[in-house]
Amino acid sequence: MNSPQIEGCSFFYAQKSANIDAMSELLQIGSQNARPNPPKPEDVEMKFSTTGVSELESLKGQYPEIKACILPALWIAQREYGGTLTGNAIAEVALRLNRSYAEIEGVATFYSMYNTQHAFGKHKIEVCTCLTCHVEGAYRIWDYLKAKLGVGHGETTADGMFTLEEVECLDACDRAPVLQVGDQYIGPVSEKDIDSLLERLRATKESTAVQMADAIVKVHLRNGGKGLV
Ligand code: FES
Repeated sequence: MNSPQIEGCSFFYAQKSANIDAMSELLQIGSQNARPNPPKPEDVEMKFSTTGVSELESLKGQYPEIKACILPALWIAQREYGGTLTGNAIAEVALRLNRSYAEIEGVATFYSMYNTQHAFGKHKIEVCTCLTCHVEGAYRIWDYLKAKLGVGHGETTADGMFTLEEVECLDACDRAPVLQVGDQYIGPVSEKDIDSLLERLRATKESTAVQMADAIVKVHLRNGGKGLV
């Protein structure tokens, strides 16, 4: 028979394990902010195009500190790497800015607008389920999309076309229920709109994730180091 002390320990570990799922959700471990696989130093490839390199050089001169350039540099990387920040992309940004891999990865995985999953779709569909959208039927839209695409939160369809994410307020409550694809807000959205949206996106050659990254880089360049104001 277990001593009361050992029983106490088992109870503690049972409780702890029951809470792991809740803790993972809270800390966003294993969700859409998954950590990319870091490459070995000898395997890092510098893949920025000449345009990407000159954009980064121009941005570096616009900020008082190189650290302030991390966000736009990650947008350049997201565009240059086809919409996904792989471990190699993070390492390239770190090398080009002379910062540590851990620092760049920390920033990239903190903001949900950066795509750090290993298999990211050509189009990211973000569905707001926050208060106003919730009241206006966001979960009806969310469930419809999940059934239509056969994937859940943070997952990508097998053909690599769509990544689905449930997100917090998109700051477009007047258009609830609203969703975001690339730099477009769509709302109020109905099931019928979703059918035509998916059809349109399937026929779109360019990745909306890449288009969005490019648009943000251009705003940064235009604003001369003042961010997205
Ligand atoms: S609650 Fe959905 S955009 Fe604000």
